[in-house]
Amino acid sequence: MNKLIIRGGIPLSGQVQVSGAKNAVLPILAGALLASGPVIIRNVPHLHDVTTTMELLGQMGVSLTMGEKMSIEVDPTTIKNTFAPYEVVKTMRASILVLGPLLARYGEAEVSLPGGCAIGARPVDMHLSGLAAMGAKINVEQGYIKARVDRLKGARIVMDQVTVTGTENLMMAASLASGTSVIENAAREPEVIDLANFINAMGGRIENAGTDTITIHGVEKLHGCDYTVLPDRIETGTYLVAAAITGGKVLVKYTDPKLLDAVLAKLVEAGALIDIGDDWIELDMEGKKPNSVNIRTAPYPGFPTDMQAQFCALNAIAEGTGSVTETVFENRFMHIQEISRLGANVNLEGNTAIIRGVKNLNGAQVMATDLRASASLILAGLVAKGETVVERIYHIDRGYDHIEEKLAGLGAQIQRVSY
Ligand code: UD1
Repeated sequence: MNKLIIRGGIPLSGQVQVSGAKNAVLPILAGALLASGPVIIRNVPHLHDVTTTMELLGQMGVSLTMGEKMSIEVDPTTIKNTFAPYEVVKTMRASILVLGPLLARYGEAEVSLPGGCAIGARPVDMHLSGLAAMGAKINVEQGYIKARVDRLKGARIVMDQVTVTGTENLMMAASLASGTSVIENAAREPEVIDLANFINAMGGRIENAGTDTITIHGVEKLHGCDYTVLPDRIETGTYLVAAAITGGKVLVKYTDPKLLDAVLAKLVEAGALIDIGDDWIELDMEGKKPNSVNIRTAPYPGFPTDMQAQFCALNAIAEGTGSVTETVFENRFMHIQEISRLGANVNLEGNTAIIRGVKNLNGAQVMATDLRASASLILAGLVAKGETVVERIYHIDRGYDHIEEKLAGLGAQIQRVSY
């Protein structure tokens, strides 16, 4: 096992390069199953979730070749089975993203139900009802989703709730269905647009991704393509908060500022000076402490739930009191108890955390509980006095590419230790 040891108190400064988006590369890797030839994917981040997806595809017989400069060639034509076992799915819920493509391309799929996870129940009922509306026969037996169809048929699907991977699964399935599908109340996340662009690069006909009504004209076949994944807006936001929380000045490169409106607005409210270019964002805190901000998470373009924990850390040492309300997941405050171990003053009332900024946090031993919770503990550690030890950092490796190296490049004292 690995842990991170952080000595806090250093204002971060310098430049950091953002990797490809985790939440775009995972559906794109699954979407490669739709193709009738090899697909090249570029700007693939070095993440454990990517390795898990490659293992999952590899077990199906799909050929994967690592190329230069963070590219992967995926050749789905060597596929031998359409089975996603529990052992893999339980470690990464996004494995459910193979269901739509397998069913659309091969007419069958057997995918383990993901089950619960640390941040809530996270059912997949809308994935299943959408596929059923397209004509799939679906049975759930012994923890497995067993789906079959001759060919999916276009349908109009109204989602009960905005779901990111649900929208993606149905969009992928509909791209090879006969006729036209319309997904209403669709997720508008930039990663949904990236997946649609990828499918269109393979010859798909998806319109209006990025709005809440996506139209997908099914095609007979999708061909191989060469596609570059968009930058990770959550990784970008995390480094900006790292700069803000330490009173530093950091330029984040190879990102897309247009994807971070809600986050940048809150950083400005916190007192940061923000400068942006086409593909960079610079945050300067001028050595000051941030002001507390009130946050309410919501589907895109609202404030992302994946940045909620990081802003809890920011509020923990900010001037004043801030409230953070989580509306997307029912149990996404596991980081609160751990941040409190560092001296944060937090009252949890239902789905709202009231955080009174304290003068200092003090280093302690803490435990990561999920991906973004781990990020918030690292951020808190960067500003805490003395030494903070973050255990169970396998969570962070799922979604942050070389985080300690990137932070060390900004002057942080952070070290990975095996134990
Ligand atoms: C995706 C992101 C995750 C992010 C989340 C919300 C990926 C790989 N993961 O997760 O990082 O935190 O969006 O922005 O892109 N729900 C149902 N039934 C369903 C599907 C979802 O009730 O069939 C509920 C969930 O329990 C949750 C809400 O809808 O309360 C939103 O979840 P969803 O958007 O589906 O999250 P994911 O796609 O799993």
